[in-house]
Amino acid sequence: MARSRRGKASLRTSRKQYPEPEPEPEPFPRAAGDIATSTLLNIADGIVVISGDWHCYVSEWSRKPPTAYRALLKFLKGDIDLAHPIKATVVNGDFLNAAQIHRHPRCGWEDHGGTLRDEIELTQEMMGNVEMISGRSIQRRANIGNHDIRVMSFLSNQIPEWEGMPYTTLNEFFPAWDFAWGCEINDNVLVKHKWAGGLYAPAQNALRSGKTCVTGHLHRGAVFPVRDAMGLRWGVDHGAIADIRSGAFRNYTESTASYTWTSGFAVITILKDKRVLMPELVLVVDEDRGLVSWRGQLLKA
Ligand SMILES: [Fe+2]
Repeated sequence: MARSRRGKASLRTSRKQYPEPEPEPEPFPRAAGDIATSTLLNIADGIVVISGDWHCYVSEWSRKPPTAYRALLKFLKGDIDLAHPIKATVVNGDFLNAAQIHRHPRCGWEDHGGTLRDEIELTQEMMGNVEMISGRSIQRRANIGNHDIRVMSFLSNQIPEWEGMPYTTLNEFFPAWDFAWGCEINDNVLVKHKWAGGLYAPAQNALRSGKTCVTGHLHRGAVFPVRDAMGLRWGVDHGAIADIRSGAFRNYTESTASYTWTSGFAVITILKDKRVLMPELVLVVDEDRGLVSWRGQLLKA
């Protein structure tokens, strides 16, 4: 308020200049086929089923899809009794294997289980099963993994002049899925294909993100409780949907995958107040007999 010469407050009010409202920001420019940072899910009083590392390998999956995949469909169909409804499912990267176009030299005379075309068609069918079962009651999200991005990276590096041409982006092959590098669930869960490395990667990811963090990539199912001044949260590796003995891994890991990795997926329960309960894993204990471990029982996939 302005003051008169005698020091008394005058009734004349100062004319405050208010700034013009900021214009709406321009949408962040993204090239054709560019991948978004993250998608969002708003979940309360429900379950999110998170799988990844399918590594679809045509010669094996066309005979019989792996145990973890069959178990995943059973969960999504509602064949397993759960205390809350499944409200969303996230496919967390590496649904494709795409070894036909990787940048590493061929390992011996290895074959890749089929052509890239066959592999994309098979993966479309397998993702299609999840779409069909999920229907309208289960929301779907998909993250990109280092194997999936190969399809676009190969083209953009080999024939950069093809940018913007039809069928040069993953979305065109999987039009029912919105791909991103991550999926944020409420404000306390982050799902990403990969982040830290090493045996304690899931715990590192929970510390780095400040949230419950679910990753795959390492193919070693694990749940780490992490507690600090912010409270209790979880670092999760959901394991691989693929059979860990798959030809997709045998040669480049010199068969060590079959000794140390785990097949499975994660089931995350979120309460009404959006608190996250300790994530649970469905883990394959006998691939040949199609048996998974779930809450102290063996289930047949
Ligand atoms: Fe993977």
